[in-house]
Amino acid sequence: MKEKFYITTPIYYPSNKMTLGNAYTTIVCDAIARFNRKQGKDVMYLTGTDEHGQKISMSAEKAGKSEKEYLDEMVEDTKSLWKLLDISYDKFIRTTDDYHEKAVQKIFTQLYQKGYIYKGSYKGWYCTPCESFWTESQLVDGKCPDCGREVKFQEEEAYFFKLSEFADKILKLYEEHPEFLQPKSRINEMVNNFIKPGLTDLCVSRTSVKWGVPVEFDPKHTIYVWIDALPNYITALGWGSDDESNFKKFWPADVHVIGKEIVRFHAIVWPAILMALGLELPKCVFGHGWLMFGGDKLSKSKKTDQKECIDPRILAPRYSSDAIRYFLYREIPFGYDGNYSTEAFLTRFNSDLSNNFGNLVSRTFSMVKKYFDSVIPESYELSDDDKALKEYVLNETKEVFKHMEKYDLTKATTSIFNIFTEANTYIQKAQPWAVAKTGDEKRLKTILRCLLETIRIGGELFEPFAPNSSRKVLDALGIEKGEFKNLDNFDGLESGRELRSLDILFPRLDVQAELETLSSLCE
Ligand code: MSP
Repeated sequence: MKEKFYITTPIYYPSNKMTLGNAYTTIVCDAIARFNRKQGKDVMYLTGTDEHGQKISMSAEKAGKSEKEYLDEMVEDTKSLWKLLDISYDKFIRTTDDYHEKAVQKIFTQLYQKGYIYKGSYKGWYCTPCESFWTESQLVDGKCPDCGREVKFQEEEAYFFKLSEFADKILKLYEEHPEFLQPKSRINEMVNNFIKPGLTDLCVSRTSVKWGVPVEFDPKHTIYVWIDALPNYITALGWGSDDESNFKKFWPADVHVIGKEIVRFHAIVWPAILMALGLELPKCVFGHGWLMFGGDKLSKSKKTDQKECIDPRILAPRYSSDAIRYFLYREIPFGYDGNYSTEAFLTRFNSDLSNNFGNLVSRTFSMVKKYFDSVIPESYELSDDDKALKEYVLNETKEVFKHMEKYDLTKATTSIFNIFTEANTYIQKAQPWAVAKTGDEKRLKTILRCLLETIRIGGELFEPFAPNSSRKVLDALGIEKGEFKNLDNFDGLESGRELRSLDILFPRLDVQAELETLSSLCE
């Protein structure tokens, strides 16, 4: 039986104003999902939308629409963005889906029956955009510590989840399974900022919010958005429904990938809920950093003065989704904050995609065309330089797998590009054009074969990250879609097969001209 792999993004607040920052988590998960599929695993990649809460009602009202009308539009918009970015999700959950609402009610009722939820009254500072309650001491200058906006003092009858009872269990979880929360620094953040100061019970219902899932046994209460949202990871698999086969197959999740600002919900609240329900915990919660723009997060609830183009709907059609995806994997050190700038993106497009990868492929293909009518040549005795290239490629390939074990997309893409760089250096040294003049056909064939093998292996490795351009190269080489093949074999191509012709993969850009065009397009 195939090994399973279950990966999730957070469910998104539906919006038609998604920036590259918002899309980052989904883009990241996509490469991990595709990589695992190519490893032959049975992958479930889940994403979706988080559709309840006061903020949604307010946005719908502002747009002059019913919640349902408003949400349907936003969801279509979100899905079309994922399509544009070649996101290969297997399931899209909406928290307004009937099966989800029913399962959430069931979870709430079970927690109540088990004594983990009780009725009380809530007094606190509420931030509507963040859907979060804060205590006086958590406020920063009297404002929401997450988004810096105004908060309102509220008091109401509410149900509470006994989160305080789970502090020791969560600490033990981090101690016994340090791999549960990554990167490591996130553990300290959770322990020092939330667990050590003391976990308080969590308010998990509201009577003032109408747009939410009603508590089954007390319907004037709606379930707090996070208690509605977090269980999507199991309800999407059919937990609590008549068909739990996917739940049995895929749970526990291999990794929940999320941005750092929502780690506390995933690494404290979610495991506590699962422990209370008696369910297995996810194997890993990975809290990535933020994509920063001029020193600020491209935030969901705070407006920044955005001068550069961060709209994926403009960038993707113009430069390809592969280019955007690659840039984010490579440039933002995975797990940490990283700066985005249009200039850095355009510069890397030229240096890495156009010069390094694109040029390697087009030079090699044109030489095979010129000297051998595009027929893949066989190889003869390898020289020391050929052997060194082979060794290098096979070693870096192993590195890519090691990095992907740790979800380190930045190091994985760096290793892939090391392969391309090495091959370009090899061309300069091997000088196939000079060999052609000597008439040493065997040597010429061997050099070109070594280059084609490097491109094949590099192309296979690059496919999860840049699926379109890599696929074009692999198709041209005659490599079928599907699992990684012959990555430890430097002789994996079929000799005598004709190379299909390829257009230029990443035409070089005029950076200054692009910067000007983009600033007018993105105003
Ligand atoms: N609805 C909640 C998640 C509930 S999961 C049970 C939510 N949604 S969100 O739409 O605000 O965020 C979705 C993802 O986008 C999060 O992982 C968030 O960290 C990510 N990002 C939004 N802006 C970002 C950056 N500027 N940089 C990187 N990722 C950021 O939170």
